[in-house]
Amino acid sequence: LKILFATSEAHPLIKTGGLADVSGALPIALQKLGCDIRVILPAYGDILESNLQIKPLTERYLPGIPGKITLYSARLGNSRVKVWLVGHASAFTRKGNPYIDANGDTWPDNAERFTLFSRVIEQVALNRMQLDWDPDIVHCNDWQTGLVPALLKQTPNAPSCLFTIHNLAYQGLFPYSTFSALSLPATLWSPEALEFHGQLSFIKGGLVFADRINTVSAQYANEIQTPQMGYGLEGLLQYKQQVLSGIVNGIDDKIWNPQTDQLIAQNYTANSLTRKKANKAALQQLYQLPADNNAFVLGCVSRLVEQKGIDLILEFLKTIKTKPLQFCLLGTGDQRYQKKFVNLAKKYPDRIAVNIGYDEKIAHQIEAGADVFLMPSRFEPCGLNQLYSMRYGTVPVVHHIGGLVDTVTDTTEETIADNTATGFVFNQPTVVALNAAINRAHQFFNKPAIWQKIIKNCMSANFTWHKSAEKYFNLYQRIQHRQP
Ligand code: ADP
Ligand code: GLC
Repeated sequence: LKILFATSEAHPLIKTGGLADVSGALPIALQKLGCDIRVILPAYGDILESNLQIKPLTERYLPGIPGKITLYSARLGNSRVKVWLVGHASAFTRKGNPYIDANGDTWPDNAERFTLFSRVIEQVALNRMQLDWDPDIVHCNDWQTGLVPALLKQTPNAPSCLFTIHNLAYQGLFPYSTFSALSLPATLWSPEALEFHGQLSFIKGGLVFADRINTVSAQYANEIQTPQMGYGLEGLLQYKQQVLSGIVNGIDDKIWNPQTDQLIAQNYTANSLTRKKANKAALQQLYQLPADNNAFVLGCVSRLVEQKGIDLILEFLKTIKTKPLQFCLLGTGDQRYQKKFVNLAKKYPDRIAVNIGYDEKIAHQIEAGADVFLMPSRFEPCGLNQLYSMRYGTVPVVHHIGGLVDTVTDTTEETIADNTATGFVFNQPTVVALNAAINRAHQFFNKPAIWQKIIKNCMSANFTWHKSAEKYFNLYQRIQHRQP
């Protein structure tokens, strides 16, 4: 089975969030299952200037694309998975975040950039780039590759497409004037195609034209079919119900493994939990919080955006004065949230410490050093941080939503008894509910025997990619054999 995996980010080449983690790990798991898989990704400036091994492969002028396209080849991390990088001077050589500029505003030419990317993917999929490789299926991810299924459907016998929704909140919406400037087939301007209430919607290209659609958890596949969480696309998604399913994300066990992780102070396993304490001490030192092994340490690594329920954490922290706990944050995003965190840290220097930034190493150190991980997301297609937390025996406190429902089991008398308790789940996205869940976690933290049991449940939960990769493989086969 030949799969072209199209994505706008892939760890370790470029990462802004969970999509990169998935694109960096799932193709490797699929290759292990026997797929002949190639990842295609823009050749962003930061990738070209990195010390990764990148070789130019071919240069071409393509119909509908101004300027020259250079394809480079690379590998996905240390794996054997081939990556094709799409180079284009004005679209991709700029450095920094792939989607936003240094002020946090979206790049003004994102529609042009990702249309160009999609057109190149189309050409590669149709084997028109002299790469001598014709995929059976193109696997597209999120709005940046949403036009690919729409473009491929214009050609008879083109490969079939799977479209994965990692986050329906990001749709790639642009005005009609952008649509006309992009010279896309005129028939695509219709509510049955890319038009969405008078705007161009990239994600609709995937939702309307892909042969199958999946989300990154089963719960999210259901949620997006409701008006509360469908952004006006719920009708279309209900209509697509027969070809819409959910496959939960896995984690890359080579990168996120407390037994071998080189980025943390002390390696440990479920059988050597006392060693986890050294990571707590290292975290307190790094964040300049009082060294105290008995302190209840809350950690959070997140994009600071509304999705993540950051406002709830901020509200909660205002009451921290009366509580015996410490809080460590690593995150970037909305400037308003950033400022509020910095101010709270100034007000309660013994309790709250924040790092406004993006840092892989510190992300690992929080996962290893904290006692609990806060994830009060208002919506969450899957979420990876709760999975990393569990792997590191750092108990997640989560809102009952999306992938968090499918991956975290609340602590109750029953789930303690049957060894399934892996976290603290609250039902309403309110500060009262978050506070109650943290209090519950704190009470159990003070009962070491049960707390250890919860940690062990977390660490033995199996979230490796293997199972989920098999499900993708199965979807590919069904698409190829045109089965429902
Ligand atoms: P999302 O993709 O919605 O941001 P996920 O939980 O799926 O959420 O994935 C987030 C990924 O990004 C995780 O690997 C997390 O560790 C990482 N991450 C988020 N913010 C930061 C940060 N400030 N520094 C380092 N890693 C971060
Ligand atoms: C998105 C979602 C997140 C998911 C990630 C990878 O960024 O917000 O929930 O884990 O994609 O699929």
